[in-house]
Amino acid sequence: MSRILAISGSLRAESFNTALLNALQPFAPKGMQIEVFKGLDELPHFNQDLEPNPPAGVVRLREAILEADGLIISTPEYNRSLPGVLKNALDWASRPYAQGVLTGKSIVAMSASPGPQGGIRALIQLKALLRDLGNFVVSGPEIAVPEVHTRLGVEADVQHVLTDPVTAGMVSHVLGGLRDAIDNGAGELVTRPLQTWSAAQV
Ligand SMILES: Cc1cc2nc3c(=O)[nH]c(=O)nc-3n(C[C@H](O)[C@H](O)[C@H](O)COP(=O)(O)O)c2cc1C
Repeated sequence: MSRILAISGSLRAESFNTALLNALQPFAPKGMQIEVFKGLDELPHFNQDLEPNPPAGVVRLREAILEADGLIISTPEYNRSLPGVLKNALDWASRPYAQGVLTGKSIVAMSASPGPQGGIRALIQLKALLRDLGNFVVSGPEIAVPEVHTRLGVEADVQHVLTDPVTAGMVSHVLGGLRDAIDNGAGELVTRPLQTWSAAQV
């Protein structure tokens, strides 16, 4: 049984990225439970002065990440880049120095946009940022979902469903990769050199 925390880079109530994350569970391997994080809007702007006594929203985010076996992050693209809300959350999660909670995790990163590029530029930035924080980013088909509004539906008036079979196939493949990465401790293996290096600095 693995517990996966899914984080959307959008605060919007009708967010396609949040809807995409909410639609992933049927494509997860057996025994993988996906929970979408609520509370990114509780994070203040990152301020290093607050690090010794972090605000409650930051503590909640850190604990949720720590308790998870793996993560899925889905980002919108804002002005060819990562939304500030998500960057802010990742900055909080990366601190204090050498104690960041993203280190050692296995992570799937994806993006979604109503536009034709699927937010690929934000996704590339997200993957580069994550890898620099010392974790294992699952490879496989790049899940940058274009024209996402045509690939999601609503069932029973509330539940989002992924209706596009091509996207569904890619999602299944990558979630299988996440299961394998967690089972093999890929995140911990990747970070061993970083932890050694970090320890050498103090
Ligand atoms: C400030 C801003 C900048 C945007 N820039 C881009 C962009 O560079 N590329 C893109 O594909 N969509 C862009 N969009 C459109 C978003 O993809 C669209 O609003 C999307 O629905 C946001 O994701 P969400 O549905 O998860 O909230 C932008 C939207 C906003 C509000």
